[in-house]
Amino acid sequence: MNDLMARLRQDHRNLSRLFDMLEEQVARYDRDSDREPDLLLILDIVAYLNDYPRVYHHPLEEEAIAYMAERHLGETSVNDFIHHQHEDLEAATKRLSLLFKTIANDQPVAIEDIRAALDDYLALSRKHLKEEDDRLFPAMEASLSDEDWRTIASRLPERRDPLFTEDPDEAFADLKSRL
Ligand SMILES: [Fe+2]
Ligand SMILES: [Fe+2]
Repeated sequence: MNDLMARLRQDHRNLSRLFDMLEEQVARYDRDSDREPDLLLILDIVAYLNDYPRVYHHPLEEEAIAYMAERHLGETSVNDFIHHQHEDLEAATKRLSLLFKTIANDQPVAIEDIRAALDDYLALSRKHLKEEDDRLFPAMEASLSDEDWRTIASRLPERRDPLFTEDPDEAFADLKSRL
């Protein structure tokens, strides 16, 4: 498998893992939970979700989609919804980030609001990953050669993953140790 294609697939596995961790932490806000949520861990997860996908993962997918459309590769109907979903996802991530920053600043936030924002975010994110895994990625694998991927990559600035690496960014060192 091409390295960039493998990276996109690995990104999805990494993101799914963070979604599960976030869900488990937020469940601790429920009144009947006997475990305390770890707000710093939550903030780190949300900071990553607000960073790498928006800065690299989504642009790489969109660049590949644009390339396929230019060259009439694959099925264009597969691609139309992805850009809009990325916009919706980035907005949902920002909402979640603002909510947890409000909590971190000791402002009151209703547990119902946290749950609602998280449920929206997770439903949107998991649906998006599944649609890409089932429809977009197979179309990419069937139609893009290594040469095509080199051209696609040349259109984007390189961006290393700041968390899922041997040498994570300082800001994500704690989160990395919890994975
Ligand atoms: Fe995507
Ligand atoms: Fe994706």
